[in-house]
Amino acid sequence: MTRTVYVNGDYLPEDEAKVSVFDRAFLMADGVYEVTSVLGGRLIDFPGHLARLQRSLDALEIRNPLSDEDWLAVHREIVARNGIEDGLVYLQVSRGNPGDRDFAYPSADTPPTVVLFTQSKPGLADSEQARTGIRVVSIPDIRWGRRDIKTVQLLYPSMGKMMAKKVGADDAWMVEDGLVTEGTSNNAYIVRGGKIITRGLSTDILHGITRAAVLRFAREAQMEIEERPFTLEEAMAADEAFVTSASAFVMPVVAIDGVALGDGRPGPVATRLREIYLDESRKAAI
Ligand code: PDD
Repeated sequence: MTRTVYVNGDYLPEDEAKVSVFDRAFLMADGVYEVTSVLGGRLIDFPGHLARLQRSLDALEIRNPLSDEDWLAVHREIVARNGIEDGLVYLQVSRGNPGDRDFAYPSADTPPTVVLFTQSKPGLADSEQARTGIRVVSIPDIRWGRRDIKTVQLLYPSMGKMMAKKVGADDAWMVEDGLVTEGTSNNAYIVRGGKIITRGLSTDILHGITRAAVLRFAREAQMEIEERPFTLEEAMAADEAFVTSASAFVMPVVAIDGVALGDGRPGPVATRLREIYLDESRKAAI
């Protein structure tokens, strides 16, 4: 089946969809994005993703081209047209096409470019990796200083994944001033003595939508949480570790830089949080 994508108001076969070579996302990485997971044909944590989209757009002074109702309608339509049961919806908004290359922003009446597409991932919540856990390596965090804005500027995270792959690991954790910031495309956590430790929110990391939900569920389950930065050494000595994201949900981490955590298998806290998160977010899916 040919995938149907959305570009600026039209639903088109993917090979007929077009965006200008002058689009600011293409030339300047001047755009933001969101990834929302779909389970059982319904959207997970959707209000959170829309709220963060608005926040990213505001930070870059890009006009939000659609209302919340329209965003929901477009998401539902693209899921339906592509018959997605389990998978992801990717949405991108750029500052649009000024008709030429120029560092200065174009005039405010330049329409933003809106692109959405789906990725079908049958059995997304039932991944083999969640049973075995993933192995991460540390790399320096050399990204820019506004990591709280979800821009399409993803070259370094992409390089980070490749650095991990080259040494036989699954992902990388980024480290700045001796402290872990986050994973290449997820938020990072360790568990010590039953306590969940994760870096607090600032411009240093993306404010994960899955993170917000998981911490809420953990509090409701009376788990102890400490929002503070942690060192790589502390992480390597932790009982367990995990990451969260819209595409991986809660994913156990079983080794850091080749050092196994605990018994080298997914820990009980990560395993329980994954179950709670999947149960609760399926119930709240729209
Ligand atoms: N990545 N940190 C970074 C750097 C990310 O790119 C992501 C998400 C997260 C987790 O955020 P959330 O829980 O809202 O998905 C944290 C998405 C999934 C991606 O780029 O595909």
